[in-house]
Amino acid sequence: MSIYSKYILPWGINAACGGKPVAKQRAKIVPQAKGMVLEVGIGSGLNLPFYDRAQVEKVWGLEPSVELRRMAEKVAGETDLAVDFIDLPGEEIPLADNSIDTVLITYTLCTIPDTARALAQIHRVLKPGAELLFCEHGLAPDADVRRWQARIDPVWSKFTGGCHINRPIDGLIRNAGFHITQMDTMYIPGPRTHSFNYWGAAVAA
Ligand SMILES: C[S@@+](CC[C@H](N)C(=O)[O-])C[C@H]1O[C@@H](n2cnc3c(N)ncnc32)[C@H](O)[C@@H]1O
Repeated sequence: MSIYSKYILPWGINAACGGKPVAKQRAKIVPQAKGMVLEVGIGSGLNLPFYDRAQVEKVWGLEPSVELRRMAEKVAGETDLAVDFIDLPGEEIPLADNSIDTVLITYTLCTIPDTARALAQIHRVLKPGAELLFCEHGLAPDADVRRWQARIDPVWSKFTGGCHINRPIDGLIRNAGFHITQMDTMYIPGPRTHSFNYWGAAVAA
C-alpha cells in the first residue's frame, strides 16, 4: 500500500465527507435507521452522531480500510451507541441471512468495486420488508454535467481510492432486486459534477 493510500487518502476522505452540505444530507437519512443496523462502508464514522439512539439496538460498522476503521472506532468509543466493526468489504458481508433491520449506505456505492455483489449481500442480510437507506452522489440528470463527469471520472477515481462520480445510483439499486419506496434527488452545494445526490429508502422487490 502506498503512503498516499495509507496516510493521505483516509484524511482526505474524512475531510471531503465532513462538510456542512453533506452533514445536512446525513441528517435527512441516518435518523430513520432502526433495530439491528448494518452500515456498509462506515468510513471515519461521520454518520454515528446522527443515529436515533432510541430506535437503534446496535450498529455493525463494515469498513475495509484499516485507517478509516480506526477513526470510526475512536468516534464510536465516544458515543453511547453499541457499535461492532467488520473488517471486510461489502461484497463479503459475514452476517446471517434475514438478520438486519436496516442497512445504511452513504457515499459508498460510488467506491465499491463490485456494486452488484455488495447489493446482493445487502439484499441477503436484510429481514423481509426491512429497509435499505441510501444517500449517495452519482450520475447527474443534465447532459452538459454528464459530459464533464465522463471526462473527469477516469482521473478522479485514480486519486480518490476508486470513487466514481457518475454511477446511476437508482439503477444500481433497482437492478439488485430492490424496489425504491422513496427517493429525492438534487444538486447539493459544490461542483455540479460531484454534487448530484440521491437519497431515500428501498425494500426487496
Ligand atoms: C467516500 S467514503 C464514505 C464513507 C462513509 N460512508 C461516509 O458517509 O462518510 C467511501 C467509503 O467506501 C469504503 N469502501 C471502499 N470499498 C468498499 C467495499 N468494497 N465495501 C465497503 N466499503 C468500501 C471506503 O473505505 C470508504 O469508507
